[in-house]
Amino acid sequence: MTNAPRSLAEAGTAILSTADPRAKCTETARIAVLWAEGDLPPGEAATPPGRPMRPDKPELLAPAAVRRRKINRGTAGRIALLHALAHIELNAIDLAWDMIARFADGNLPRAFFDDWLRVAGEEARHFALLADRLADFGASYGDLPAHDGLWDAAMETRHDLAARLAVVPLVLEARGLDVTPVMIEKLRQVDDDETADVLEIIYRDEIGHVEIGRQWFEFVCAEHGADPVDLWRELVQRHFRGDLKPPFNTSARDAAGLPESWYRDLPAR
Ligand SMILES: [Fe+2]
Ligand SMILES: [Fe+2]
Repeated sequence: MTNAPRSLAEAGTAILSTADPRAKCTETARIAVLWAEGDLPPGEAATPPGRPMRPDKPELLAPAAVRRRKINRGTAGRIALLHALAHIELNAIDLAWDMIARFADGNLPRAFFDDWLRVAGEEARHFALLADRLADFGASYGDLPAHDGLWDAAMETRHDLAARLAVVPLVLEARGLDVTPVMIEKLRQVDDDETADVLEIIYRDEIGHVEIGRQWFEFVCAEHGADPVDLWRELVQRHFRGDLKPPFNTSARDAAGLPESWYRDLPAR
């Protein structure tokens, strides 16, 4: 890891090239301080690794091969849930840094980097909260196989900031808003308030991530003179494999500034 990065883009590339999840988290916090103190310029767009470095464990499997378990009073289902969510958050840390490192350029205002650094910091906190909760069950990240498809959206959109924003925060993170309240409810039903409370923190932060994604998507649209809803629908159809699946959490999506006019009746490509 670079001890004294010359720019945010360089720091992001170093974090993407770091395999250890806890090291990604501590380095994210350290860089956020350097940025807040005004000691780092954004830098020029870098070419971070196509895929971020990963630890030897977990084993990465095709999505269909990852075993699903129910949330019930037994701990195996909750360990599987926490593990799957920790894996998503680890990818989310890297996605935030990839946004910064890959798309840094002189035309983006400082607020762009403030926002994505905030996202990176919150994703790191989410990973740590989930990893700590796994430890309460005697488990740790790496114990179970994990989904190998989470970086596909990043690869698919690596050439275009508008496409990246359209798919990652505004499809994938928005999808998280749809499914998280259901998980929280099931956890409360089995009296696992501690895990439910962790998911509540994540849920609240993720509304902010969708909002940040929508704001910067609109910024890019304004620069190109494009209508945000039209361009979003076009980019999602071109770059996202699969359907936008109801039921949608319209109140959380509304809170993030993503009303139904964006995503209603969007045919799969
Ligand atoms: Fe997160
Ligand atoms: Fe997020």
